Amino acid sequence: MTRALTKAVIPAAGLGTRFLPATKAMPKEMLPVVDKPAIQYVVEEAVNAGLHDVLMITGRNKTALENHFDRMYELEQTLEEKGDREKLAKVEYSTELADMHYVRQGDPLGLGHAVLRAKMHVGHEPFAVLLGDDIIDARDPLLTRMVEVHERRDTTVVALLEVPESQTHLYGIATVEPTEDDDVVRITGLVEKPPQGEAPSNLAIIGRYVLKPGVFDVLERTQPGKGGEIQLTDALLEMANDPTSGGVHGVVFRGRRYDTGDRLDYIKAIVQLAVERDDLGAELRPWLREFASSLD
Ligand code: UTP
Repeated sequence: MTRALTKAVIPAAGLGTRFLPATKAMPKEMLPVVDKPAIQYVVEEAVNAGLHDVLMITGRNKTALENHFDRMYELEQTLEEKGDREKLAKVEYSTELADMHYVRQGDPLGLGHAVLRAKMHVGHEPFAVLLGDDIIDARDPLLTRMVEVHERRDTTVVALLEVPESQTHLYGIATVEPTEDDDVVRITGLVEKPPQGEAPSNLAIIGRYVLKPGVFDVLERTQPGKGGEIQLTDALLEMANDPTSGGVHGVVFRGRRYDTGDRLDYIKAIVQLAVERDDLGAELRPWLREFASSLD
């Protein structure tokens, strides 16, 4: 019998060097995607999947993250006095969204190390991990499906996406076997960022995981791997090879995903999400068409 999931862990302690200088004094998770910081989309996704207890793993510059999910009395009072209910609701929404908790990572020794910092808070329950780099469209509920697969199979679950061969060196890549479910595979091998041309498949791990608490014991003995960092992928490989751990399955995601960890993809994500917005799309679409034709 598996236990119901209630907790989400969001690692946000990376250095975000690809966005320097924007991330010199601010975490990359606070970069706006249209008018919301990337991190808010991710917390909303956790809450929509029924995970109201959110633990954020923060590092230096954590203040902006904590403040975003906290009350802002002065701002709220000013909006109240102006009678601007619409903006006030936006400010209050992020405060009331989830039950937020924070823990510091100290040194950014890798994603596996960041996840290990959640051990005390999570205890002996399964939990979800969501990375702020990936925004999953709310209309394509990936995490809900992953939780379902975890509960049915009592297994660790990762999200997989088919990527072009030119991009496999940027991701953890999985070797898989099919299952009777069209969108679920069993993971038999994993390799973190394989050199170009050496990837065993084009199924890349994207930033959503449903982990069993046994992952903490594995992470505690996981040695630094690729890039000198303690890699979550290495711990997952050990669990995939150990039948007593319940194994690792992948949900192959075929929905809309916006990568905000890379500058070019971040720009594309903003444009894609803005054209679909009721308040911006109508004006943005004709402008975009004109702009695109002017490029020729
Ligand atoms: P990335 O590999 O994207 O690293 O981390 P990064 O430092 O954030 O960004 P770049 O490559 O320097 O631009 C993937 C996720 O893991 C978290 C990051 O915050 C991000 O959400 N992370 C990574 C940690 O929390 N701690 C770490 O030690 C490393």
